[in-house]
Amino acid sequence: MKNALIIGATSGIGKELSKLLVNDNYKVLITGRRENLLNEIKETNPEKYLIKVHDVTNLNSCEKLFEEVENELKTIDLIVYSSGVGEPNYKLEWEKEIPTLNTNILAATKIYGLAYNFFRKQGYGHLVGISSIASIRGNRHTPAYFASKAFQASYLESLYMKGKRSKASIYVTDIQPGFVDTAMALGDTFWMASLKKATKQIYSAIKNKKKKAYITKRWRLVAFVLKIVPTKLLYKIS
Ligand SMILES: NC(=O)c1ccc[n+]([C@@H]2O[C@H](COP(=O)([O-])OP(=O)(O)OC[C@H]3O[C@@H](n4cnc5c(N)ncnc54)[C@H](OP(=O)(O)O)[C@@H]3O)[C@@H](O)[C@H]2O)c1
Repeated sequence: MKNALIIGATSGIGKELSKLLVNDNYKVLITGRRENLLNEIKETNPEKYLIKVHDVTNLNSCEKLFEEVENELKTIDLIVYSSGVGEPNYKLEWEKEIPTLNTNILAATKIYGLAYNFFRKQGYGHLVGISSIASIRGNRHTPAYFASKAFQASYLESLYMKGKRSKASIYVTDIQPGFVDTAMALGDTFWMASLKKATKQIYSAIKNKKKKAYITKRWRLVAFVLKIVPTKLLYKIS
């Protein structure tokens, strides 16, 4: 049986992905701040789920989380960082940017580093981060979220490069979703993927040890356009 740690699995992509892993005979340790939701998930399959209430923005507690996870699972094959927040900030209010910076940048860096070093010590492992299509260009309504996703994508690419040179077998995957129907996707919008379809594709990318995967696949086209669209045109239409 393989072991996985999913950080940020009380809802959305993290929760659905942990379900797929459990169905695939993984033992999965899931985290998040909402204890009631963690308990509800554990009740669906008490043998396969382990839970830990944990706030990633409490950076000093992340080492302890990893120590506890290691004590319980002994080995970890897969670590997914799915925690993420972000909201529009039309007036650039500082207070609104803080949770995004703390969760998507500081905590992500902390967890990516702990995961990578855990795998280096263990000799193998697969780290998955969930950035976004938002990582490709800026956005005037939601600047901190878009910038934080660019940071994550770049950091994950750096870890991928590091993993390639490592003596340990370390794989790093950057998942870049477009719109997925979760609490985070505010309202209905174009090309909104169902959570099931998106997560199935994410799991397939993980199994195939992809370096990067656009979710759903059609977002590869959007990514391509975003990368080549002339700046002047982008600023006019966005
Ligand atoms: N949905 C989309 O359209 C979309 C598109 C591109 C990228 N993404 C990315 O996908 C990832 C998952 O988001 P989602 O769509 O599944 O949204 P979601 O349903 O809101 O899930 C977010 C998860 O992050 C956890 N989280 C937030 N703050 C946390 C904290 N301080 N400590 C620990 N966990 C924390 C939440 O758990 P608690 O609240 O219980 O702590 C929850 O389990 C995010 O990184 C998001 O940026 C989503």
